[in-house]
Amino acid sequence: MSFYVTTPIYYVNAAPHLGHAYTTIAADVMARHHRQRGEDVFFLTGTDEHGEPVALAAEAAGVTPRELADKNAERFKALAPVLNATNDFFIRTSDPEHVKAVQDVLTKVKDNGYVELGLYEGWYCPRCADFKSESEIVDGNRCPIHLIELTWEQEENYFFKLSAFQERLEALYAEQPGFVTPQSRYNEALSFIKSGLNDVSLTRGKLTWGVPVPWDEGHVFYVWFDALLNYYTALTYARPGEDLRDTFWPAQRHLIAKDILKFHTVFWPALLMAADLPLPENVFVHGYLLMEGHKMSKSLGNVLDPFEVIDKFGSDALRFYLLRDVSFGQDGSVSTEDFEKRYESELANDYGNLASRTIKMLLRYRDGDVPQVDLDPAIAAEFDGLVERVSELIGAGELTQALEEVWVRVRRLNAYVGEQEPWKLAKDEARTADLERTLATLAEGIRVVTVLLHAWIPDRADRLLAALGAGEIADDRAPALAIDTARFGAAPPTAVTDIDPLFPKQAPAPAA
Ligand code: MSP
Repeated sequence: MSFYVTTPIYYVNAAPHLGHAYTTIAADVMARHHRQRGEDVFFLTGTDEHGEPVALAAEAAGVTPRELADKNAERFKALAPVLNATNDFFIRTSDPEHVKAVQDVLTKVKDNGYVELGLYEGWYCPRCADFKSESEIVDGNRCPIHLIELTWEQEENYFFKLSAFQERLEALYAEQPGFVTPQSRYNEALSFIKSGLNDVSLTRGKLTWGVPVPWDEGHVFYVWFDALLNYYTALTYARPGEDLRDTFWPAQRHLIAKDILKFHTVFWPALLMAADLPLPENVFVHGYLLMEGHKMSKSLGNVLDPFEVIDKFGSDALRFYLLRDVSFGQDGSVSTEDFEKRYESELANDYGNLASRTIKMLLRYRDGDVPQVDLDPAIAAEFDGLVERVSELIGAGELTQALEEVWVRVRRLNAYVGEQEPWKLAKDEARTADLERTLATLAEGIRVVTVLLHAWIPDRADRLLAALGAGEIADDRAPALAIDTARFGAAPPTAVTDIDPLFPKQAPAPAA
């Protein structure tokens, strides 16, 4: 089984911010989980480097577009490891292999009869690199996303005959209801299609920073067509000597936020149809991270620097917070206060403390040996079906609900400590069996939740599993992380070693 997941490729007109980190983290959780399932995974992210937004930003900074792209692509590339994200490749649309592959695919689209010359006129947002329809425009010709004034543009362009795909797109949506999720986004995309599709410009004559149109030297491809194709072209050269399309095309999941819905749910499938290529299984559309009620974006100035947050709290804490606090798929506000609350109450207390207490008790009462006794059936029952449920939810992109399923068990284990009061049992020789069952049950419960939490908090999860006897964990495919071992009772720890607090209170640990 293979699993190919992508993030949008990010514009290099500005530095990375928390919004970009969010999508990359989410894709990483999915990639890691699918590796734990033993699947063949390919996780792609990268940078979108051509087009007007980058050309304009470069001009403002007094550098060439390539200089700006080189500088900012490095910053995006550096972000992934800081987030502990395990992308298999980082594509840059300025890669010559990408450029060539875009030209090949779009020539095929032309040969198939879906390109024609025409005159374009309309309201254009240079930051979105997008023409806006009348219904999208806000307060007197402004962009609904950037709130800047739109310009009236007129030029001779080659057009992509999007209108020719009206029926086929409607059929796609009818036959593949999971093509776009969540449902509200499916509805939005479908109603856009049903409102009637117009042809869209495929090339731009005024711009030089882009992929040259092979059949007309005066034009470059409109950046969105060049950009969308990254998901496909990357597979042709990500691993030298291999054609990964055989294994990974079509993609299982494109992750995006709702700002780029139209491109991924309407243009993209139509473009693939026009090129005779198979369509992806799913576009998952998540919501916006909001600060003070507005979408975080560089142009609005309300950005949180993910590098700074991670410096202070570590990557696991950020990964956990973003997917826990904001229901994945919906918009949600983020703030440093909320972050610190989650950190303290859930990571430090619910989880970190549970692990430390259990390990300390095993060290104190049993010299670190975990009693090999029958586990508490009442707790075992609470873990029934958990692996399947978590896998199903992650498979459906429901990362917040999946995390909640695990957290219910973390809380249950905490309650179990309170119910059993092992420190009292330890004082009563007649209750040795109860003590041993309690400690063994806790150790096994913690191991199980930790195997499942690895996808969200890989660094601390692996540290804790090592303390529970799993040894060094090299990567997501380590046997100790295999999803089948996340069944309660599958691999009870036999011995534990001491561990520093996983999520220390007050003075959070620096990045791992
Ligand atoms: N370059 C295009 C995408 C081309 S994909 C073929 C682009 N780039 S972008 O830099 O603007 O990135 C947009 C994406 O970044 C969003 O779709 C989302 O994945 C992520 N986010 C940026 N800001 C965000 C928030 N405030 N909240 C949630 N996601 C955010 O569009």
